[in-house]
Amino acid sequence: MAHKIQPAAASDFLAIAALDRIAWRHTGEPFIADGEHVWRVWCEYAVVLVARQDGEPTDDTGDMVGTTVMFPTVDGEWFLHKIMVHPERRGGGVGSGLMRAALARADAPVLLTVDPANVAAVQLYEGYGFAVRQHVEGYYRPHEHRNVMVYVPK
Ligand SMILES: CC(C)(COP(=O)(O)OP(=O)(O)OC[C@H]1O[C@@H](n2cnc3c(N)ncnc32)[C@H](O)[C@@H]1OP(=O)(O)O)[C@@H](O)C(=O)NCCC(=O)NCCS
Repeated sequence: MAHKIQPAAASDFLAIAALDRIAWRHTGEPFIADGEHVWRVWCEYAVVLVARQDGEPTDDTGDMVGTTVMFPTVDGEWFLHKIMVHPERRGGGVGSGLMRAALARADAPVLLTVDPANVAAVQLYEGYGFAVRQHVEGYYRPHEHRNVMVYVPK
């Protein structure tokens, strides 16, 4: 099914939060989704890009099949906090399209963190030129280790 990628509107925050709640079910981690209020703020003040699909909504994500959020850091870099695709739409180029659109807006290095065991995400990031800057044990809770990766625009 076709999709289009565009900046989020402030009114998208509930659908994005709904997507966030289902995007991580396969991990078994219950606390990863961000809240509706922070998505409301990010939609207005961060770079939030959404992928919308044509056709009838099948759940409370509406036409939202993917989202990424990126914001400037205090050090003058960017931080790509999250990229996620609806479980029923993975493997079809949505994540790749969101990443391409986000990096096109990056005028400075882009940081992100990733669970090294998240093969799909690691492959996506490496494919776009991200490299590991640092490994942090217990980045979130003690068992939640993360690699900090960085993309440097040419
Ligand atoms: C990671 C994620 C965003 C990828 O989105 P997607 O739409 O499925 O990805 P695409 O179809 O655009 O694939 C882009 C690239 O990602 C990698 N990739 C995607 N799915 C993969 C899988 N199951 N195994 C290995 N690599 C995979 C590949 O490098 C792929 O490029 P290729 O098609 O040339 O091989 C998606 O799997 C997702 O939402 N996962 C859950 C949330 C998450 O873990 N987000 C990342 C941390 S914030």
